[in-house]
Amino acid sequence: MPAAYQTAINYLKTNRPRFLDELIEFLKIPSISTDPNHTASMLVAAEWLAEKLNRTGLENTQIISTQGHPAVYADYLHAGPHQPTMLIYGHYDVQPPDPLDLWMTDPFSPAIIGDHIYARGSSDMKGQILASIFALESIFKNGSLPVNIKYLIEGEEEIGSPSLSALLEDNRQLLSADFSLNLDAGMAGPDLPTIVTGLRGLAYFELTVYGPRQDLHSGVYGGVVKNPAIALAEIISGMHDSSGKITLPGFYDDVIELTAEERRQFSELPEDDYFYLVQTGAPELFGEHGFSAAERIGARPTLDVNGFISGFTGLGSKTIIPSWAKAKISTRLVPNQNPVSVRQSLESYLNRHAPAGVTWELVAMAGGSPYLAPDEIPGRQALISALKSVWGKNPIFKREGGSIPVVNEMKTILGIDSLLTGFGLPDDRVHSPNERLHLPTWYKGIEALVQFLYNLSNHKD
Ligand code: BES
Ligand code: MN
Repeated sequence: MPAAYQTAINYLKTNRPRFLDELIEFLKIPSISTDPNHTASMLVAAEWLAEKLNRTGLENTQIISTQGHPAVYADYLHAGPHQPTMLIYGHYDVQPPDPLDLWMTDPFSPAIIGDHIYARGSSDMKGQILASIFALESIFKNGSLPVNIKYLIEGEEEIGSPSLSALLEDNRQLLSADFSLNLDAGMAGPDLPTIVTGLRGLAYFELTVYGPRQDLHSGVYGGVVKNPAIALAEIISGMHDSSGKITLPGFYDDVIELTAEERRQFSELPEDDYFYLVQTGAPELFGEHGFSAAERIGARPTLDVNGFISGFTGLGSKTIIPSWAKAKISTRLVPNQNPVSVRQSLESYLNRHAPAGVTWELVAMAGGSPYLAPDEIPGRQALISALKSVWGKNPIFKREGGSIPVVNEMKTILGIDSLLTGFGLPDDRVHSPNERLHLPTWYKGIEALVQFLYNLSNHKD
C-alpha cells in the first residue's frame, strides 16, 4: 500500500462524526420514487448528491433528466488511460415507509440507537452511496486517486428502473467503463464479507377482477353473482400446487437447473434453514419442495402476493358483495427467465383458470432480468483482497434473491459486468419498518473501499 493509504485511513477515522452528520442530512430527504406526492423530494435528493460529489472532487457533474426521476452523473478521469475505469452505481430512491405506526422513530428523522442508525434508505442504499463517496474523499484529501471513476446514481431502482435502459443507450460513451461497482447487494452477516454472484429478476403485476357494476347488498343479491374477492382468492390459490411449485403454463421453461456442483456450493453457505426461520419470525419455513432455503432464494423462481384489497376494510361490518378485487402479484426470476415470457405465462393461466362470472385486467409494473456473474470481472481480485484485509477472512460468494435491474442492463447495453457487494446486513429490515444501518460495519466498509481503490490501480507501490 502507498504511504497515502495510511493517512487516508486515519482521515477516515477522525472524520467519522462528520460522515455520520452528512448521512443524517441525506436520510432526511424523503425520496420515495413510487409516490407521486414526493416528486419534489426526488430532485432535492439528486441535487444534494450532485453537490456532494462536486465538493468531494468529482467533475462533470450532471443531473440527467429522464422520463421519470432524474439520475446523477459525475466523474474523475485523471488517473490516466492505463488505469481502469470503474462505474459506481447507486440509487438515491427509497421504498415507501408504510406502515408508519410500526416505526419506533420517524422514518425520515434519522435516529442513532446503539450501533445502528434508523431511517428509511439507511441500508438500501443511501448509506452505501455515501460509503463510496467518503472513501473517495479520504483518498482525494490525502493524495491522488489512482483509478478513473464514473458515478451513475439513479432515482427509480425501487420501481424497477423504467427509464434506465433509455438512459444507458443514450449515454453509452459517457458511461463506458471496464466494470461497475454495485454496493446495493449487501453482505451475509457482520463478520461475513460477501461478493454476490447472482441476482434474481422481477416481474410485477396488478391484477384486478371485476364483478357487479357496483358494491351490492349481500343479502339482496347474495347467491346470484360471483363475488370478485372470492374469484381472486381462487385464482391466486391455484397459482401454486401442494409442493410449492408454480402452476403458470410454461413458467419453468427457461429456468436453468442447478448443477450438482452448484448445489454443493449452496450447501456450504453459512446460512442454513434455521437462520431463515430466525430472520423471518415465521412459525415455519415454506417453499418449493426439494430445495434448501438458500437455494430457493438464490436460484429458484417464486411467486408472491404483495398486496390484496377488496370490499369493506374499515372498522365494523358492512354487508356487501364488492364490485372488484385487486392483488399486487410479483414473481422473482432466475436465469434465463425474462419478464416478458412470465407475463405470457400469467396471461395464459388467467385465460384458462379465471372463474366464470368475472372479468379481469392485468397491468405489468416493475420488471428486471436476472443476472449471473462470470468468474472473471475486472477488479474482483482487488475487492477480495480489500475485504479480506479489513475483515480478516476471505469473502463468501453467494447468489442473492433480490433484484437490481440495472445489472443486466449494464451487461447488455454497456457490455460490462458488475462487482456486487455492499455493507447492508440481513437484519437491516430493508423495505420493512425500522430500517437501519449497522454503523461499525459501515465504517469497515468505507475502509475496505479505500483499500479496494488502491488495489485496483495498475501501479502498486
Ligand atoms: N438492494 C435491493 C436488492 C437486493 C436486496 C439485492 C438484497 C441483493 C440482496 C434493491 O434496492 C431492491 O430492493 N430492489 C428491488 C427491485 C425491484 C423493484 C425491481 C427488489 O428487489 O424488490
Ligand atoms: Mn430496495
